[in-house]
Amino acid sequence: MTTHEAKNNLIKRFHHRLLILTKVLPGIILLKNSELLVVLLLKRVYNFSAGPAVLPEPVLKKVQDELLNYRETGMSVMELSHRSAPFQNIIEEAQGLLRDLLSIPDDYQVIFMQGGASLQFSMIPLNLLGEGQEATYIQTGSWSKKAIKEAGKAGKVRTLSPSEPFEIPDYEPEDFSPEASYVHITSNNTIEGTRFHEYPDTGGIPLVADMSSHILSEKIDVSSFGLIYAGAQKNLGPSGVTVAIIHDSLIGKAPGNCPTMLNYETYVKHESLFNTPPTFSIYVLKLVLEWVKENGGVEGIQAHNERKAALLYDCIDESSLFHNPVPEKNRSLMNIPFSTGSEELDAEFLKGAKAEGFEFLKGHRSVGGMRASLYNAMPLEGVESLVDFMRKFESDRGGC
Ligand SMILES: Cc1ncc(COP(=O)(O)O)c(C=O)c1O
Repeated sequence: MTTHEAKNNLIKRFHHRLLILTKVLPGIILLKNSELLVVLLLKRVYNFSAGPAVLPEPVLKKVQDELLNYRETGMSVMELSHRSAPFQNIIEEAQGLLRDLLSIPDDYQVIFMQGGASLQFSMIPLNLLGEGQEATYIQTGSWSKKAIKEAGKAGKVRTLSPSEPFEIPDYEPEDFSPEASYVHITSNNTIEGTRFHEYPDTGGIPLVADMSSHILSEKIDVSSFGLIYAGAQKNLGPSGVTVAIIHDSLIGKAPGNCPTMLNYETYVKHESLFNTPPTFSIYVLKLVLEWVKENGGVEGIQAHNERKAALLYDCIDESSLFHNPVPEKNRSLMNIPFSTGSEELDAEFLKGAKAEGFEFLKGHRSVGGMRASLYNAMPLEGVESLVDFMRKFESDRGGC
């Protein structure tokens, strides 16, 4: 054996041992310089990003385990043909799991697309807003404004806007024109931190909901919607895949000149495999759905989410320093904005929080202050630690 081979063998043995060791003791600190570097790279923070966002750690570990050799195929999922049997299984299982978790009725189709929720802003009117028809959009924040802008390019849009920025009024059938082809809502407003607690009764007009930032966070009755869509990168998986759940009656309504890739029917007819789908994102999404199922399904996750959100809201409401602008009845379970009311103090808070391992707490520029996104994968300990940090920050400044 040459010296070079011997050295390589030694490195391989060292990596293997370290891998085993870090599985048992992920936080171990070893003293030799090179070893310390590897261990520090494994340190994870509490990620409060609004999206792409924290993923369940067991899912990331599974991805890591299967990365080079997916189920004895001898290749990574990223290298598998989308027409191969192993990938067909992945996409079918992902669909089945979502159907199970959300109790999706048989007369709804589950499809996987690309282009993010933003492309849905265009696809929805291109498919559902026929010539001379109008759609009603409830404007509850920045993302619904973007949806309205795109719909306005395709057809006639009537907008209902609440009078207060963080308000979501109750809506009754009389609020909607019977002529409307559909009513669009953003069911959870990621930036403003608001959500619909009751869905509007549209009196039979199909309800279309952008659920990007709270799908799978709480129970929903799919049958009260015509179409639900969500970009994956918050509660469903990594960015790159967009999910839609669409009632049969809304498929095949696009005009003949609708581009093939913007027509829902294309995805339904070809089971989301008309062209190459984002295979790796769909694979990770499937693992996330398995994780949700193992953690009590949507009901179990909802209870966990309610506990996490209550911890943070209670901390804010009891504080004389921090404030949340949203009326209690409209508060989001997922995205919680708060601030001290002083830009300087907010900046100090964010700096201190980052140093303690709380990442991406800066609020959206349109709202300012801070925002904690508590998606499904955020562990309870993350919120407990944040709340401890907030209380200490306040008491250090003479608060209670
Ligand atoms: C509610 C909502 N809708 C739409 C979008 C846009 O999603 P995408 O970036 O996937 O187009 C976002 C992104 O954060 C969002 O939160």
